[in-house]
Amino acid sequence: MQGFDYKFIEQLKNKNDIVDVVSRYVRLEQKGGNYWGVCHFHHEKTASFSVNPSGQFFYCFGCHKSGDVITFVSEIEALDFSDAVKLLAERVGLALPTIKIDDEKIREQKRKKERLNALLKDTALFYAHNLRTSNAEKHNEYIKKRGLDNQTAIKFGLGASLNFNDLPKYLLEKGYTYEEMTASGAVDVKDGRYYDSLGGRLIVPIINQFNQVVAFGGRLLEKADFAKYKNTKETIIFSKSNNLYNLNNLKKLKNEKGLDSVIIVEGYMDTISLDKAGFYNVVASMGTSLTKDQARILKRYTDKVYISYDGDFAGQKASIRGLEILKDEGLDVKVVSLPDGMDPDDVVKNLGREGYETLLKSAMPLIDFKLDILRKTFDINTVDGKRKYVSKAIEVIRESPSPAEQEDLLKTVRSLTGTTIEALKRELYSTHKQENLVQTNVIHEVNDYSDSKTAIAGRFILYSYLFNKPYAEETDIKSIEFILPEHKKIRDFIVNRIDNGQKIVFSDLFDEGDTENKELSKIAGLETSSNNSYDQSTYFNDCLKTLKLFVVNQKLETLTKQFSSETDVETRRKITVEMSNLYAIKKKLI
Ligand code: CTP
Ligand code: MN
Repeated sequence: MQGFDYKFIEQLKNKNDIVDVVSRYVRLEQKGGNYWGVCHFHHEKTASFSVNPSGQFFYCFGCHKSGDVITFVSEIEALDFSDAVKLLAERVGLALPTIKIDDEKIREQKRKKERLNALLKDTALFYAHNLRTSNAEKHNEYIKKRGLDNQTAIKFGLGASLNFNDLPKYLLEKGYTYEEMTASGAVDVKDGRYYDSLGGRLIVPIINQFNQVVAFGGRLLEKADFAKYKNTKETIIFSKSNNLYNLNNLKKLKNEKGLDSVIIVEGYMDTISLDKAGFYNVVASMGTSLTKDQARILKRYTDKVYISYDGDFAGQKASIRGLEILKDEGLDVKVVSLPDGMDPDDVVKNLGREGYETLLKSAMPLIDFKLDILRKTFDINTVDGKRKYVSKAIEVIRESPSPAEQEDLLKTVRSLTGTTIEALKRELYSTHKQENLVQTNVIHEVNDYSDSKTAIAGRFILYSYLFNKPYAEETDIKSIEFILPEHKKIRDFIVNRIDNGQKIVFSDLFDEGDTENKELSKIAGLETSSNNSYDQSTYFNDCLKTLKLFVVNQKLETLTKQFSSETDVETRRKITVEMSNLYAIKKKLI
């Protein structure tokens, strides 16, 4: 757990009561043993978000998110685990455990960063002020020409650089050194002369999720043979690959209204222009292909992204890798197809808000998009082109975990190429890709399994231990065999606590990394919705039986297989004995 020890986290959680912390963001009302409010993690009008004070966890009946106080803060503030811990520690005045040797170095680095943050903020204010003077006529004309208004300019903190000299002069007066100026990227130096890096340009500040200005983009006001955009350089507080443009507004939107999805565009102007058209959930990758860091940032805001890149084929092809990265982080990726040669900015200008809305609605799942690209890559009117297309298409279709989806996609390939479904299926299941196939099937089984009777039983049993139910005391948890891997993990946690003579606290389970354990949410849901309309003690025993029965049946199945392939008479006899014992146990269970 990223440098924090268990004792520290425990102390932190003790001092940060979850009801107190959540109340700062969500209006809660007490009803029964729980507190209720409107969920900030998904859109809703009725209060299905609950906070459980005794277990120190939250659970939403709408979106099924759950977690402890750290999870809550990291979700709502869009912070990673260690930053959420820092924030909570600060709130209660708890000192973070630090490593002594690096202390001085870290403090120095922190001080440096703070100076740069201050410098860039002053720079942003300076540029924004310029824009409001009569010297920025051209800049204002340009803003108007792009169809933007004052309000949008203010929201995005747009500014004007009027020349190359004013900025360094201004910053010097403000008490910054030349060294700090160049370290921030706002000022460059050549032949001993310090000058505004973005001299003369329209300024777009890049503001991070903490509302800190970390860099600037600058656009030329006229056409030129050199790049129309220039950004300030990478610094100790800015790297393009782990930033996205417009995170400040995205975070605000998430906290105030909640977020369903995020639209990813390439450029500053696309973002600003979509905002003006009423699409506020937009970020820009700033022209580069997406990175894993950016995917992780997005994952903290949403589960669903629309990728809305320029409508040229080459660009789309190049963006596939970026899309795979998003998918690998567990995001649901949809691709918005834009008319050839248009970017989102052009679309809202030419086709209006409704036009873009329509394109969003018809966005394709990633897999369809990939097939589309393949179709455009190969000439399926030639024998060779068709064969290559089919072979690549099958590879793509194989990635789908859903047989129903595979079937649909195969039909698409059939209608494009005239190849029969039988032939396509043969290729799909051909042996050289068996590994993939097996993996896919395993994932299936586990998925299907998670709502089976046995899964429900295992869940209830764990719930009973986690919430210290008296009826569970008579049974040793070590004697129970769980089936789901997630259940086994939770069982190990409980056993560990018992072995160490510690009390079981549910919220302790939400360690970093474990938030992916969907079973935890489901167990949290059980506690929150539990009523006394059924006899939990009897149900507990039924659940134990269900699990035992499952295990016995599994063993019987294995033995039956062994029996039929066994030729040795003595071994066969032993198997029969074992099987009859199992049948006897089974009879007692049902
Ligand atoms: N970009 C950059 N440096 C460049 C070109 C582009 O940093 N030399 C980044 C900018 O963030 C820009 C984005 O890539 O917003 C997309 O580039 P492009 O599609 O060329 O620009 P647009 O946003 O369409 O710009 P505009 O509409 O202002 O022409
Ligand atoms: Mn553009």
